[in-house]
Amino acid sequence: MANSKVVLAYSGGLDTSVAIPWLRESKGLDVVAVTVDVGQPVDLERVRKKAIASGAVAAYVADARREFAEEFIAPALRANALYEGIYPLGTALARPLIGRHLVEVARREDAAYVAHGCTGKGNDQVRFDLSTTGLAPELGVIAPAREWKMTREDEIVYAREHGVPVEATSASPYSTDENLWGRSVECGILEDPAIEPPEEVYAWTRSPSAAPDQPAYVTVSFERGTPVALDGERRPLHEMIAHLNRLAGDHGVGRIDHLESRVVGIKSREVYECPAALVLIGAHQALEALVLPRDLLEFKRTVEQRYAQLVYDGLWFAPLRGALDAFVDSTQARVTGEVAMKLFKGRAHPVGRRSENALYQPALATYSTGDRFRSEMAEGFIYVWGLPVRTWSAIGAAPTASVATNPPRA
Ligand code: ARG
Repeated sequence: MANSKVVLAYSGGLDTSVAIPWLRESKGLDVVAVTVDVGQPVDLERVRKKAIASGAVAAYVADARREFAEEFIAPALRANALYEGIYPLGTALARPLIGRHLVEVARREDAAYVAHGCTGKGNDQVRFDLSTTGLAPELGVIAPAREWKMTREDEIVYAREHGVPVEATSASPYSTDENLWGRSVECGILEDPAIEPPEEVYAWTRSPSAAPDQPAYVTVSFERGTPVALDGERRPLHEMIAHLNRLAGDHGVGRIDHLESRVVGIKSREVYECPAALVLIGAHQALEALVLPRDLLEFKRTVEQRYAQLVYDGLWFAPLRGALDAFVDSTQARVTGEVAMKLFKGRAHPVGRRSENALYQPALATYSTGDRFRSEMAEGFIYVWGLPVRTWSAIGAAPTASVATNPPRA
């Protein structure tokens, strides 16, 4: 009888390469490797060959950049999703997409398991496990690196003994993850949160102090909350994101130093580079400020926070996400217009906005001629609006004083 199959999320790195012979030896499973391109620097053909060379019975690659941008990044952007207010969730958003690809291949190949290379200390194991079992509860999930007790040195020995190609990469002290929505860096000196990250951890962004002395401007056009064009040129979202990562990164935009609260209870220090995410979220917030009323903006902020936490926590395929998306999307019907962003020495900020749905009315806002605001109505408004606080103060300040029912006249 043929071995059962396991579908492995395969990056081409040492951990997932060693996992191929390990899954056969320890679990008696044939490995089908799946590599998903979400915008990381990857030579898909090379990775596919390496999977086979490491002992996989089949290896598939998928260019999922468009799918990632349109189905995962775009909803998160409409929700201005920033975990703990600062992390745009690049890694967290890619995991459910990769999980979905694993499940598709597992069904096609009639595999009983999926596997991933995450350790037992991080968030990514939670995201992979929850997205694959959320989509296909019948599949088992195996995380070799959570089970084996190998150091990096042990893994290299294991690889050599099992014919896995080992690349002579100069061992970096940092652990990184990259995709369209950002790059994350951890480990090494970054584990001391008291120390400023050294320049060498950055790969996408120029130091703000070394950024050009002339600012760059980019105009982002949105339709119903989704970016559709840069500087008037319509392009697919994943291309606009890749372009903005380069442009804004050159101007030093996108560096984030996060003392982060992981799902598993650990505090960790993570550094991110997210140029495009910060430009697009900043532009989107600026447009919302122009077209949405205050109460809706305020309430949406609470939903955004919950949304970011849910994505971080690996619950993309849980029903709450669909419910929150329905709310967010209902707020986006008028979020159409343009925002000019200025990129300068590490900052990206809105400097101009325009929309046919603007609530901003010059005739109401102006202090010059043409003012149509009825200022004489303000006094009565303030009298009624202030009644509770006036009543409260009157009692507190002087217990004998009665509540003034009319404002004192000058
Ligand atoms: N801390 C970030 C997150 O949880 C980034 C994790 C990066 N993952 C990795 N395997 N290096 O989303």
